[in-house]
Amino acid sequence: MSLTTHSSQDRVFTILGIETSCDETAAAVIRLCGDKTEVLSSIIDSQIARHAPFGGVVPEIAARAHVDSIDGVIAAAMTAAGLRYSELDGIAATAGPGLVGGVMVGLSAGKAMSLGLNLPLMAVNHLEGHAVSARLEADVPYPFLLLLTSGGHCQLLEVRGIGQCLRLGTTIDDAAGEAFDKIAKTLGLAYPGGPALEQLAVGGDPDRYPLPRALLGRDGCDFSFSGLKTAAARIAITLSEDPQRRDLAAGVQAAIARQLAERTERAMLQYGQGLTSGDKRFVVAGGVAANRVVRAALQAACAKHGFSFAAPALRYCTDNAAMIALAGAERLRLGLIDGLDVAARPRWPLDAAAALDQPIHKLSRKGAKA
Ligand code: KG4
Ligand code: ZN
Repeated sequence: MSLTTHSSQDRVFTILGIETSCDETAAAVIRLCGDKTEVLSSIIDSQIARHAPFGGVVPEIAARAHVDSIDGVIAAAMTAAGLRYSELDGIAATAGPGLVGGVMVGLSAGKAMSLGLNLPLMAVNHLEGHAVSARLEADVPYPFLLLLTSGGHCQLLEVRGIGQCLRLGTTIDDAAGEAFDKIAKTLGLAYPGGPALEQLAVGGDPDRYPLPRALLGRDGCDFSFSGLKTAAARIAITLSEDPQRRDLAAGVQAAIARQLAERTERAMLQYGQGLTSGDKRFVVAGGVAANRVVRAALQAACAKHGFSFAAPALRYCTDNAAMIALAGAERLRLGLIDGLDVAARPRWPLDAAAALDQPIHKLSRKGAKA
């Protein structure tokens, strides 16, 4: 006979999340109970205008901007949630990977609040935030196959649960978002380039310019975008008319979507072995998941291989603090709490063993990158 107990699964966790790893100062309050998540507030103070003149994120400017706005953003998140600080159960702050000056600002704010309010602190891996982001508004149980594609990362992961990720593949050079941003820059588009390139590509002919198809048909689930970046830049400098620029943008977008889908299909074959159709779940997350052509290519891959498709709402694809709060809530539920001595980490792979075993980037003093 089994006894019914009120496990931590039934408890309500109201968590403040803080995110400062790149160019968004964000704070959010979420409430987790069982499988249900409610986003009570999600405030994002974007620094895009401050970095746009430089064509990319300037770390020093980012860190100072986070210092300027962190207190106001946290206060705004609490006001929008309609809660007093005493009604929180914990504080979750991004502790890496990212621009370490910015990470330190948010993590320090989280530590101060944890100490002052006597609340548990959860130091969250930003990538784990992206990994759970589809669970903010949809019922996506573990385990699932994840394509995490953002400005800094491009990885295929088997997500078995919080803190349990197995890397199936990663980029051997640039991330997909980085390729979007850099190619957009050569096309004279404003930062951040991904959304601008998607807009320019509307109505363009993706087959007008021949572009490299890196790794297509090759074994494994790794990615490579640097060849595409160089080829597109070479063509871009020869173009001044809009129809041609539109066609190149469409070609680049299609090439990135094609590679993401092709590598994902390989991961599906590997991951899906022995799984029943109901257990074949696929999630795409990260800024590039906001791209409609990319989404369509991945949805087609899911249909072909019998996987269900989930992606966060557009506002939770790019950086936000709601996903950090949810990762923190899931951590707290498992008793995974951090001490005030936890350090900000510029590098922090989700699958540390794979990153050390097969380092894609040269190992440095700071450790494996992804
Ligand atoms: O997840 P995210 O906000 O930050 C990182 O953790 O990197 O992702 C930002 C990246 C940028 O490279 C941006 O250009 C790209 O996501 N991105 C897009 C789109 N929206 C954002 N790329 C292509 N199409 C989009 N609609
Ligand atoms: Zn991100």
